[in-house]
Amino acid sequence: MTTTHIGQPVSRVDGRAKVTGDARYAAEFNVPGLVYGHVVSSDVARGTITGIDVSAALSVPGVLEVFTHENTPGLPWFDRSYRDEVAPVGSPFRPLYDDEIEFSGQPIALVVAESFELARHAAALVRVKYARLPHRTDLELERRAAYQPEHRMPLPAPRGDAEAAFAAAPVRVDAEYRVPAEHHNPMESFGATVVREDDGTLTVYDKTQGVQNVHGYLCRVFGYAPEDLRVVSPFVGGAFGAGLRPQYHVFLAVLAARALERSVRVSMTRQQMFTFGHRPATWQRLRLGASADGRLQALLHEAVAETSRFEDFTEAVVHWSGMHYRCDHVAFDHRLAQLDVYTPMDMRAPGASWGVYALECAMDELAVQTGLDPVELRLRNYAERDQNVDKPFSSKELRACYRQAAERFGWARRDPRPRSMRAGDALIGWGMAGGVWEAMQETATARAMLMADGSLTVSSATADIGTGTYTIMAQIATETLGLPIERVTAQLGDSTLSAAPIEGGSWTAASVGTAVKDACTRVRARLVDLARRLDGSPLAGARPDDVMLADGHLHAGDGRSVAITDVMRRSGVGTIDEEATANPSRTRDAYGLYSHSAIFAEVQVDEALGTVQVTRVVSAVAGGRILNPKTAGSQVMGSIVGGIGMALHEESVLDHAVGRFMTHNLADYHIPVHADVHDIEVIFVDERDDVVNPLGAKGLGEIGIVGVAAAIANAVYHATGRRVRELPITLDKLL
Ligand code: MOS
Repeated sequence: MTTTHIGQPVSRVDGRAKVTGDARYAAEFNVPGLVYGHVVSSDVARGTITGIDVSAALSVPGVLEVFTHENTPGLPWFDRSYRDEVAPVGSPFRPLYDDEIEFSGQPIALVVAESFELARHAAALVRVKYARLPHRTDLELERRAAYQPEHRMPLPAPRGDAEAAFAAAPVRVDAEYRVPAEHHNPMESFGATVVREDDGTLTVYDKTQGVQNVHGYLCRVFGYAPEDLRVVSPFVGGAFGAGLRPQYHVFLAVLAARALERSVRVSMTRQQMFTFGHRPATWQRLRLGASADGRLQALLHEAVAETSRFEDFTEAVVHWSGMHYRCDHVAFDHRLAQLDVYTPMDMRAPGASWGVYALECAMDELAVQTGLDPVELRLRNYAERDQNVDKPFSSKELRACYRQAAERFGWARRDPRPRSMRAGDALIGWGMAGGVWEAMQETATARAMLMADGSLTVSSATADIGTGTYTIMAQIATETLGLPIERVTAQLGDSTLSAAPIEGGSWTAASVGTAVKDACTRVRARLVDLARRLDGSPLAGARPDDVMLADGHLHAGDGRSVAITDVMRRSGVGTIDEEATANPSRTRDAYGLYSHSAIFAEVQVDEALGTVQVTRVVSAVAGGRILNPKTAGSQVMGSIVGGIGMALHEESVLDHAVGRFMTHNLADYHIPVHADVHDIEVIFVDERDDVVNPLGAKGLGEIGIVGVAAAIANAVYHATGRRVRELPITLDKLL
């Protein structure tokens, strides 16, 4: 299909609002009479509350109420009330439900006052007594007791006899890898402003990746009729998965607004951002058996991840090892170990970030053992079929990714010997890895409304967490209806809009984008029909398919045309309003559907200090059709920065004596800053895919980070000869 707007580097349609401050975030919606809640967090990781003294807090002038488990009766009993759209198997956490403490930082009281400062001050006056129970928070100690959970995504079936093939293989890699707990740390911390209308209905401004998920949760928990509670989230200052599930701040804000019959805001401190879901701490073992010339003969991938005591959090981790390379003898295991922590959460390519990290580091170790170039080793084991499900790939331009990124990077000039490349005193290392993510599509609905003045509004209850959803919705509408993009308004982040899934899994462009296209196609059909019926219509004899829409006009193809506004006026039609639901096609079922990438990284290691700098990254991504190279490029670049963080900086350190994450601020929890980020280049390789969805787009939310940590770890090995198998690669591990 030839396109005019799709595929163009359109600037964000919401960019101006964001940089001028017009864009309002959840904790910025102000109403008269707003009061403020501050959360009191548990000091202990496990036990019961034996006493909670709120008298000092309540005596502070301006404090309205302190909510605890003692004065919030009547909350629902059944788990199903608390289970949101993406809840793992188990029993979801219930704030202020009873006296039981299940993790450090658990919310145990909400102090509500006339100002934020008063609430925060009074929260410090709440005195809590606990009966402590011994807690366990160390994965290394608990992983031997790991168990097989019910997996959200069943493990791939084993093939052949992996153990025997491994034992017989001439070349073997057997290595363990560790990734620590990490927290999402979006710039905007979680917050909700609950506005109570005079009739008792609520408008909940929340930071979330899924307004309808939060809406359903709040209605079930608090017994609201769907029309009496609305969740609004027009802008989200980053989330990375932390906003997929409803968080406790929104529960507490609604609880207080109901009880006090006031509008209430609850926002979390940065420290409290470390008191809910995180990427799980994990251990992995990879065993690769190969022939002397590097053909894989056996692949065994085992993983153990932490979970909470109340939910089994599982991800697709070992799955990628079953489909990324050709191998006939494979075996997989992924178990969980319970700790006294909050349930882990999806975070930036959940499962793949750490599963593919281990796979791609092990492949690098195999390249060293076989003496093969890492790219050549991967090409020798290139998978032409998705062996997990024994289906062909709908498209797979991974070879082009390897080739284009390698060429751009200058890989051919690499001396394969470790410690062979230097710049002054610094050791230089070049490493590479591949990435993969699933190209998913979920059912989504969108609405398109064309007005008599020729303006169009497209809407869906999806989210834009910085990914560019507003912009691609506008582009797709513009493309389909031939309108100037200035005449198109995209709306999202409102639970009253057409049904959409959470924004996650990289499926939004494919899912909501297709629904927008379908809704606009319906508007187009009605418009063409109206135009053909006009008295003396210039489109009288034209076949509908031959009609072109451009510049706000319908063109017959023979030079004659009519303006959309004229069609509307002359037909006496005020609006054309269409809704469409897009489902994934059945054709998809016959294929393995994935996006791919190849990442090449250069590091400089200061041998005396052990410090690592990632001086260059080239990433080539095959993600189907790129709807907007500008927002897409930014998205992948941001993911690469996330990958640098994973490789070198990010670690949520638990003090096991107290069972608490101690690095709970941005001074102690390190993320890459400008000084850590150097040249990053993103290439999108051409990839046509007519199967994934009518747009041919595979989604880019996650693929950008997958493999980045492995490429950097492999580069550090090449620079130093040291194989660090435990992230992050901090200087103490290199000295
Ligand atoms: Mo993504 S971790 O599905 O927000």
